Amino acid sequence: MFSHMSEQWLLLLILLVSTAFVFTTNVILRKETGIPGPRGWPVIGHLPLLHRKKIVHQTLMNLAQKYGPLYELRLGMLKVLVISSPDLAKEILKIQDASFADRPFTIIGELIGYQRKDIIFSPTDDHWRFMRKLGSEFMSSKAIQKQQDLLIAGIDSTSITIEFGMAELMRNPDVKEKLVKELDELVGRERLVEESDLVNLKYLKMVIKETFRLHPPVPVLLPRKSMEPATVAGYKVPKNLQVLINSDAIQRSPESWDDPTSFRPERFANNPVDVKGQDFCLLPFGAGRRQCPGMGIGGLMVEITLATFLQILEFSLPAGLKPEDVDMTAEAAMTSALVSPLLVSVKPRLSPKLCSMRTSGRTFQRSYVLTWNIIQVETGFGDKI
Ligand code: HEM
Repeated sequence: MFSHMSEQWLLLLILLVSTAFVFTTNVILRKETGIPGPRGWPVIGHLPLLHRKKIVHQTLMNLAQKYGPLYELRLGMLKVLVISSPDLAKEILKIQDASFADRPFTIIGELIGYQRKDIIFSPTDDHWRFMRKLGSEFMSSKAIQKQQDLLIAGIDSTSITIEFGMAELMRNPDVKEKLVKELDELVGRERLVEESDLVNLKYLKMVIKETFRLHPPVPVLLPRKSMEPATVAGYKVPKNLQVLINSDAIQRSPESWDDPTSFRPERFANNPVDVKGQDFCLLPFGAGRRQCPGMGIGGLMVEITLATFLQILEFSLPAGLKPEDVDMTAEAAMTSALVSPLLVSVKPRLSPKLCSMRTSGRTFQRSYVLTWNIIQVETGFGDKI
């Protein structure tokens, strides 16, 4: 009986001591900057919040609803500032861009970024400036076709956008019909859509902007790091603090967008907001010094591929599937693709002379990017496009 009682007291004591420890650690840490944020565990901090199976950008968005557009997390020893509003994104990416242009050290940067010698993970130094300059020269010349390093960085994001765009079109048949009508009226069925047509395809551009808004392939911009002490929203930010900008949360925020979770390309009619990094409520390519250098080529690939798909093929859902059955769940990763492949049924729309599809093989003559996540079923052109 006595030993049973003492065990209970011991447990109570451990509980009290650990609660006091958690509390004081949090108070001490919070006092350093005064930046709001959830209470974390000793040593591991907020790591349990970012559990592998959770979709990180959604967890970060939920925390922003509680702690506001600027809050701090501690991931083990690492402190991270999380930004979730257009005004604060502008503060970091434009007004104080020079102070926040660095990329932090990450294991992934070491492993896949050639010890941070590649352009994505490189710190903002002379080597990065040289790579960026080289990149823009190659982007504006034919040599782009030979550039791995750079194209590999972008193919994932580009095909993710095409797949989400197609998935939204299958969920919104009225949008798809309007887009096909635009292609028929402005390009016709007697020739294939070309790059020079894109400038006239206004509805296509609206559909793609809306896809970037609801499904940014990089939902949390690549991490930045303060290069010197700074002040953001009245809070003192120390040197070397990591900064995450949750563009997905910004792009779904009811403060910036009406009916933010609906796919409505029409919202961009007579609306100058664009993806180029000047409008901080729409940041699929980021902004500032570390903005995506592949924005031009990436946007072009998405436009020409979607236009070509819709011009040459009639897409429908396989028998038995309804638009609302299309699964839009995104992967919990740095680039966020569709979890389930999109199943579609296709029929040719143009004369076989114009659009020669290799029925024995699995490729279209005019596919600029192969997307492996759209699976064609029920017709005879092979099983993947
Ligand atoms: C739909 C297509 C694409 C999207 C949505 C996209 C998105 C992004 C985003 C959000 C960033 C981080 C920007 C920031 O930190 O502010 C980024 C960086 C980068 N992207 Fe893209 N990207 C796309 C296509 C491409 C393509 C086609 C290429 C190459 C040809 C490319 C090369 C890069 C590189 C090299 C960086 C790192 C830049 C730096 O740190 O200086 N991207 N991209």
